[in-house]
Amino acid sequence: MYKFKEKFLEKYSKFTDINRFCEYCVKPLNKSIRVNTLKISVKELKEKLNNYNFRQVPWCKEGFWIKGPRTDLGNLPEHSLGYFYVQEAASMIPPVVLNPRENELILDLAAAPGSKTTQMAAMMNNKGIIVANDIKYDRLKALSINLQRCGILNTIITLRTNFKNIKFDKILLDAPCSGTGAIRKSLMTLKIWNNNMIRKLANDQKRLILNSFDSLNDDCVLVYSTCSVDPEENEEVIDFLLKNRDAKLEKIDLDIKKSPVILEYEEKNYNEEIKKCLRIWPQDNDTEGFFVAKIRK
Ligand SMILES: C[S@@+](CC[C@H](N)C(=O)[O-])C[C@H]1O[C@@H](n2cnc3c(N)ncnc32)[C@H](O)[C@@H]1O
Repeated sequence: MYKFKEKFLEKYSKFTDINRFCEYCVKPLNKSIRVNTLKISVKELKEKLNNYNFRQVPWCKEGFWIKGPRTDLGNLPEHSLGYFYVQEAASMIPPVVLNPRENELILDLAAAPGSKTTQMAAMMNNKGIIVANDIKYDRLKALSINLQRCGILNTIITLRTNFKNIKFDKILLDAPCSGTGAIRKSLMTLKIWNNNMIRKLANDQKRLILNSFDSLNDDCVLVYSTCSVDPEENEEVIDFLLKNRDAKLEKIDLDIKKSPVILEYEEKNYNEEIKKCLRIWPQDNDTEGFFVAKIRK
């Protein structure tokens, strides 16, 4: 059974309609997939899975909520063949915002298990180069299986803590986070949630965002994302970057319902530029909650 801690309710009730947030935290997620266009077209997959109903994800043309005879989509033969990736609809946003192109050198700094790496490889038509990095060896195994299953050819896997001597054209920092936007996927998050953990994660995220920014070529783009709704892991991390580096934010315009960003927290006022970022709560679009920032060097 789930239980919302007092401190959890107290914290997030300052930023959103807490009853609606809690309602969506425990509501089952709608199943969504992203068609792997390296192996099959959207039309062909729809024909193969013709006993499933496909509903378009508005912000990703290969993304669909699907309903049909089976819910264990990962066990379908079409999944084993790499025709699709089971991916939450909001998790498709960061690669769409980064928009990797065929001739570019991309760093996916925290890549495992590879939902966004495989999405970016498809966007790049398997051309250019992606460096897919993670620091957890066990998670790299899942990443490598997903790359193979999806027929990815433009990606190398690394296990590194920094990339000081290499500069990239684009970087995705899908940061390790508390997962407070994804409670509906893992109710365990409610059990382990505490403010000390959030603070520790925020420190890691601040270090990672500076390192990522420093590994970027001039006039290039870094996308920072989390599936957390906590301001300390999101607006505060971006505010920290703006204070410490000459970074510019770019507005994210997508066909999606978004919520106001948080600019005041515990006596702190964050940079107004952060309004250009995307904050979504689970109740906004009936997805996971996500935060995405598009940063230019
Ligand atoms: C949110 S998950 C990434 C999900 C992945 N981008 C995807 O879409 O499938 C965060 C990842 O960060 C990794 N991680 C944690 N600390 C890291 C660090 N210092 N450098 C690189 N990766 C790290 C974790 O092992 C975890 O796999």
